[in-house]
Amino acid sequence: MKMKPVKWVVEDPKKKNVFWPSEELKKRAWVNDESVYAEAEKDPVAWWGKLAKEGITWFKDWTVTYKENPPFYQWFVGGKLNICYNAVDRHITSWKRNKAAIIWEPEPLNEQPRVLTFQDLYREVCKFANVLKGLGIKKGDRVGIYLPMIPEVQIAMLACARIGAVHSVVFSAFSGQSLRDRMIDAEAKVLVTADGYYRRGKPVNLKENADIGAEGTKIKDVIVVKRLGTPVNWVEGRDHWWHELMEKADLNCEPEVMDSEDMLFILYTSGTTGKPKGIEHHVGGYAVQAYWTTKWDFDLHDEDLFWCTADIGWITGHTYNCYGPLMNGVTSLIYEGAPDFPGPDRWWQIIEKYAVTVFYTAPTAIRMFMRLGDEYVKKHDLSSLRILGTVGEPINEDAWLWYFNTVGGGRCPIIDTWWQTETGATLINSLPGIGPFIPTVAGRPFPGTRFAILTEDGKPTNIGEGGFLVQKSPFAPGMLRTVYGDPEKFKQQYFGVYGERIYYTSDGAYIFDQLGNIRITGRVDDVMKVAGHRLSTAEVENAVAQHPAVAECAVVAMPHDIKGEVPVAFVALKAGFKGSLQLEDEIKKKVTEIIGPTARPEKVVLVDDLPKTRSGKIMRRILKALTANQPIGDISTLMNPESVQTLKERIGYKGPT
Ligand code: WT7
Repeated sequence: MKMKPVKWVVEDPKKKNVFWPSEELKKRAWVNDESVYAEAEKDPVAWWGKLAKEGITWFKDWTVTYKENPPFYQWFVGGKLNICYNAVDRHITSWKRNKAAIIWEPEPLNEQPRVLTFQDLYREVCKFANVLKGLGIKKGDRVGIYLPMIPEVQIAMLACARIGAVHSVVFSAFSGQSLRDRMIDAEAKVLVTADGYYRRGKPVNLKENADIGAEGTKIKDVIVVKRLGTPVNWVEGRDHWWHELMEKADLNCEPEVMDSEDMLFILYTSGTTGKPKGIEHHVGGYAVQAYWTTKWDFDLHDEDLFWCTADIGWITGHTYNCYGPLMNGVTSLIYEGAPDFPGPDRWWQIIEKYAVTVFYTAPTAIRMFMRLGDEYVKKHDLSSLRILGTVGEPINEDAWLWYFNTVGGGRCPIIDTWWQTETGATLINSLPGIGPFIPTVAGRPFPGTRFAILTEDGKPTNIGEGGFLVQKSPFAPGMLRTVYGDPEKFKQQYFGVYGERIYYTSDGAYIFDQLGNIRITGRVDDVMKVAGHRLSTAEVENAVAQHPAVAECAVVAMPHDIKGEVPVAFVALKAGFKGSLQLEDEIKKKVTEIIGPTARPEKVVLVDDLPKTRSGKIMRRILKALTANQPIGDISTLMNPESVQTLKERIGYKGPT
């Protein structure tokens, strides 16, 4: 499919980088009129009620659209629906039954892709739902999913949703121990995993990790997808092959009638403590926001092919690889492997091969490809692309413009979507038919949502003045309902700063212009974004501390050209241990083993002494400044000011002295 080049409308020639949608974009867009914002703002609850009716098939209407018991809130109270029915069943009674629902691209070039039509998906989901039922899984039970990027991951999620089981997907690159922690917290009864997957041409044994993850939990059954066909450890009575169970499974499975406020899934994410929080999303509100944001942000139409490169283990994958596109009846492409394998043009080759029209990725990937050079992009015909998206961390202007010009050929708007695991779906971004598209600026809150940027004492900020990004009630329907098993944590984390009717995002931001476009500046807590992956410094510290040589440690985020941020571990050794490169390496390995390779420190700095206050608190502020080559500030009040000099030498500090 070829799209005609489109002329861009630039607002003010002096401010070259403010782009507006072309007439062609506007004409095609689901929304192309500014007035949508004002209309929604008049009555957000009524607005979402209208969207909910239009976008979602309900078995029974709700009685109350929005109900608050601060800080708790509910949407579409009394409404009955099933999100799997919305993503699958409702398409098999139309021409869409024969349309591709999922296209899967394996990493090895000599393997065949898989295409599942909506009818295929329906059959597989029903069968797997019966498999789960056969293992005794009922509505409300938790099912762990630890799978690579293969269609079984969507099948398993949808099958859970179909029978009302709560899925908790764990990123396949997380370690066995991380999996176990999550499975224990969720009290999962069944785990769905695979023998492995390909990464950079090598088979990765996932079952090994899954075995560690299942140990000491309430998991009674482990279902294993045969992806590689390599030998795996087998626990008789507990382990079952996916294909063997599926062979015997019945084709028919009625969707469970779910209450709008029944739980749909738990997804663990990092907060500021060492223990990840189980973010709880409920069916009705999540379905509504996932459906509409997918449709409007990416302006998806029937002929589109949507590729969101996120792993399904993150919220982006849940909403934009699975529920969002499928509820819209749009084809979702997933790719198993590494972005640059077997060559640095793999992604561009995939876009060309399938004529992808809408592409959604992360700044870290954009920066990596920018670094590799234009020739890999230029080798391929990317003229099918119509809209580009970015998510996960602030995007710098260079990367934005490169993405816009080199990947998008200057035709495609960049939709910079701000959101969080907690928000379930996107919340702040420009819409393709409305704009404007400004590098580094996310845009306006989605119609029907209310945001503000506040000073420390809760006053609204002016244009250009930095502050804390908050969401105001009524909260968007897809927001988390609580932290699984820990409502106190929910209250304190999100509503403990400005009160019970103001959701605190933990992000800094400022209002960019008169239109109210918002620029996100980044996290204001101890959460890092490492290549777009969310990690807490405390988690990494816990992992480092488990190495027997470590007496004390502090982990801070260091700026990184491609990954955005990387963890750096400052470690004081126990008496009797000598620093060496080998020891540094062992400590890094420990982190990989305990959390996973995404958390592996970029550097381990071994020191005799960490800078401390007189009361013995480690001064992370100083460590952070050291890694970022920023002014260190006053150190005269430290207990051990001399430690800073040693640190400067160890880390090769280049900041002001
Ligand atoms: C944090 C949430 C939700 C999608 C994936 C991340 C940062 C997210 C943007 C953006 C600047 C962004 C924020 C946020 N973030 N999108 N477009 N511009 N920053 O979900 O792992 O829960 O992380 O990612 O800091 O709080 P997450």
